Amino acid sequence: MMNYMGYIGVLGVLVQAERRFPDGFKFGAATAAYQVEGAWNSSDKAPSIWDTFTHHQSENIADGSSGDVACDSYNKWREDIELASELGLHFYRFSISWPRLLPNGFSNVISEDGVRYYNDLIDGLLEKGIEPVATLYHWDLPQNLQDLGGWTNPLIVDWFKDYARIVYTLFGDRVKTWITINEAIVVCEVVYTMGSFAPGISSPGLGSYLCGKNILLAHAAAWRLYDEEFRPMYHGKVSLTNQIFWIEPYSEEFIEEAELTMQYAAGFYSHAIYTKEGGWPPTFEKYIAEKSKREGYPRSRLPAFTEEEKEFVKGTYDFYAVNYYTSRRARALKPGEAAGEWPMFGAGEIGVFLDVHPDWPQAASHWFYVNPPGLRKLLVWLKKNYGDIEYMIIENGYSTSERDLNDIKRIQYYEDHLEQVLLAIKDGVNVTRYTAWTLLDNYEWTDGYTSKFGLIDVDFNDPARKRTLRDSARFYAKLIETHSLDDINMV
Ligand code: GAL
Repeated sequence: MMNYMGYIGVLGVLVQAERRFPDGFKFGAATAAYQVEGAWNSSDKAPSIWDTFTHHQSENIADGSSGDVACDSYNKWREDIELASELGLHFYRFSISWPRLLPNGFSNVISEDGVRYYNDLIDGLLEKGIEPVATLYHWDLPQNLQDLGGWTNPLIVDWFKDYARIVYTLFGDRVKTWITINEAIVVCEVVYTMGSFAPGISSPGLGSYLCGKNILLAHAAAWRLYDEEFRPMYHGKVSLTNQIFWIEPYSEEFIEEAELTMQYAAGFYSHAIYTKEGGWPPTFEKYIAEKSKREGYPRSRLPAFTEEEKEFVKGTYDFYAVNYYTSRRARALKPGEAAGEWPMFGAGEIGVFLDVHPDWPQAASHWFYVNPPGLRKLLVWLKKNYGDIEYMIIENGYSTSERDLNDIKRIQYYEDHLEQVLLAIKDGVNVTRYTAWTLLDNYEWTDGYTSKFGLIDVDFNDPARKRTLRDSARFYAKLIETHSLDDINMV
């Protein structure tokens, strides 16, 4: 770990030469519609599952709050772009709210206000020379589609494709980098296995797997649509992004358990797309099939892909996008031991026990323990499993509970992780982008406004939602300006 104040002397010169990012490497920051926009019911916008969840099950939110107003970016987008420009961001990743653009959820009605808002945002970014990177789905499903089963209904593949067609048609001339789905593991596992996110339905090992298969098919449908009808005109790139916890073996003895957990945590939403054989990761598929049999199910709880579906999903990527925050250790469960936490990575389902290393310091979020080398190991693991393709870090950042403008720990987190990115590049992983989560403090899902991830502080008690740059924002701006971790003098 190195200090952000930089190095002096001979060692400094040596290290400096090593801590420069490759030419063309891009830095950005991300947000998501529900977390920043607010304006939850302005004009013809329909409710999303997060509107319903926060309004009717607010006991699940740490401070009982909602994203009704959030950062008010629906009205203050110009200011956000100004700030992004002040930081010198090469790109800004935002998400499009499905129920803002299509109030019916279906593509027969398009909201004029929704179109205007995203046009303004995209044009505003381009005017400042900032590339817009857009996510189609960052968790805010139209409530009426949830009422029809949401991601567990196979028809969502068509609904999502219809939505994607509208989005590409409206914005594809200016947006060239697309993320279809943000973190399928959250959409399917945190929702259905843990029951803790909107829509608050618990269906572990059943709903979670139906969702998993449908979301992969929906992503594939949106990718194929772009590939066939829009790429010839616009020449953009499309993929999904996965949040992956790096899973270390507890000790040498548990390498197999850690690998099986990685196949659950990462392979679940990658294997079908990024490998030559396609379909579910074989180890994991076999495990669930045998377990389902023992449990008396007539077939595996994990729905099989037909050969045709396998072919349909396989190869539907232009790059691999990964969101990294934290790590876990895995070991086998001891006889009679309870599964413990983290069912979203298969604890319980695949008989592993997950915990954190005592040396990994905790951030503000309950799930968040800091392990920078995990990012390098993860990138190397991804390359080994999914090949020598383009990798983008599409989220990485640190949470605090205080509104601290002098956010030393966040700066240290960024520096330590960026250093690991450089090491992964030296290891031969073709990483081309890094995205800080997040531009400004925002609505942190079930943590409400209690966890702050922003480079920029937002005063949520102020109706004007005043934004103030933190030291981490200055650090990031300097990094972007110098393209190196070594020339950042914060004094
Ligand atoms: C990601 C998510 C973001 C943000 C971040 C920090 O999983 O995509 O929306 O909340 O985690 O928790």
